[in-house]
Amino acid sequence: MEKNKIVDDHTINYHIRAQKGLINDPNGLIYFKDKYHVFFQWNPEGTTHENKHWGHAVSDDLVNWSYLKPALSPDNWYDKNGCYSGSAIEKDGKLYIFYTGNVKKAQGERESYQCLAVSKDGIHFEKHGPLFEHPGDYTAHVRDPKVWKGNESYWMVLGAQTQDLKGTAIIYSSKDLLSWDFQGELTDEPSDFGYMWECPDLLRLNKKDVFVFSPQGIEAKGTLYQNIFQTGYMLGHFENGRFTPEIKEFNEMDRGFEFYAPQSFEDDQGRTLVFGWMGAMPPKQEAAVPTVKDGWIHHLSLPREIMFVKNQLIQKPVDELKKLRIQSYDMLKDISKKDNVLFTTSEQEITCKWDTCASSFTWTLRNEIDLRYEASERKFTIERTNWLDSTRETRTVYLKETLSSLQLFLEDSAMEVFLNDGREVFSLRYFNNERTDSWTWLNKDWLSNLSQFMIFELEKTIKL
Ligand code: FRU
Repeated sequence: MEKNKIVDDHTINYHIRAQKGLINDPNGLIYFKDKYHVFFQWNPEGTTHENKHWGHAVSDDLVNWSYLKPALSPDNWYDKNGCYSGSAIEKDGKLYIFYTGNVKKAQGERESYQCLAVSKDGIHFEKHGPLFEHPGDYTAHVRDPKVWKGNESYWMVLGAQTQDLKGTAIIYSSKDLLSWDFQGELTDEPSDFGYMWECPDLLRLNKKDVFVFSPQGIEAKGTLYQNIFQTGYMLGHFENGRFTPEIKEFNEMDRGFEFYAPQSFEDDQGRTLVFGWMGAMPPKQEAAVPTVKDGWIHHLSLPREIMFVKNQLIQKPVDELKKLRIQSYDMLKDISKKDNVLFTTSEQEITCKWDTCASSFTWTLRNEIDLRYEASERKFTIERTNWLDSTRETRTVYLKETLSSLQLFLEDSAMEVFLNDGREVFSLRYFNNERTDSWTWLNKDWLSNLSQFMIFELEKTIKL
């Protein structure tokens, strides 16, 4: 059978990506003066983790992005080795951004400062410098301020490390966003959980509070915590500066390989949206990403709307992403008519639904990624090739309900998979040099149970 051969250049065409250099965490997410603003950690000069600026992209619709000049550059004594991650909030028509100034001394010791910068137009920022000093109970690993408005005051939560090298989160309060009072540690749970917590975030969803953070130093346990660093959440209750978990379980937010350091914000429609970084990988594997030779690396996840249903965090690609669809194929109809369907772009969305439950299947996508469902255990696995050492590696989740829907977003070198309407999500990068792209790899047993199987070609919206 004729196969559609495509040689990948690994380009990312509709996710927010580094124009050049290296991009990491999403920062300062906000809907301000009728636009979505996404700032991000950015080294414009190279593909290594240094020289972090705040890059800036704006959009009217979460789909088409324009890249602006960096909002912050590391050019002051208190942020000279990097304007690290942080968040944004609007007050009296002005945009306040809080970030961590990172300073490395000659002997390699580090200092960190929580800093403020303010803007009238959301584009040009005036730096106000460091806001306060941390108590001595913590090392210099205190960073990533996330600020929000409570009933009577503003709150700022920060990732931190205690002097005995344990990860934690600390919290401050303020009446005016300028002077801040230390309120102690946000929570006692989970205790002894890694050596550093990065990018903490507190979300109020359907009257529940959700504490999201990215701990470092967690050991793998069965199918859990397989990545170099994890991102997860705990469900509980936030009051007077303290978070009390209702369920003492750290749930991974994304079951794939690279998703890390997400941040949430509420938009003008009252939706809670999240972007993450795709993402965190072991340093040698990161250096081996094929786009490094082209002078750029990494991108963000798609915007996801998040909600809480029956004690479970649900993440769905925002509705606006349907605007990306430029051509659609109803595969259930097309399959009976033709032997093969050739796609002209490698940017695709695929949606599948099962009326009755899905039976077991293995689906090989792009000659590279295996999606495997073992129906008796409700076990869903994604397998890919590690581009550094060529081994096959897997990530797995045991679904709470049988598989009933699957939505895939594909780029040349990235994939996001939403199962059962966003109850589980997998994000990953993949790199292969030559692939085939026809539907003929489908297992017919699986097809017979499907009630919907659509493939959409997507528009390339990122113009650098
Ligand atoms: C998470 C992180 C943050 C830090 C930033 C630096 O990926 O390490 O803790 O502020 O990246 O780029």
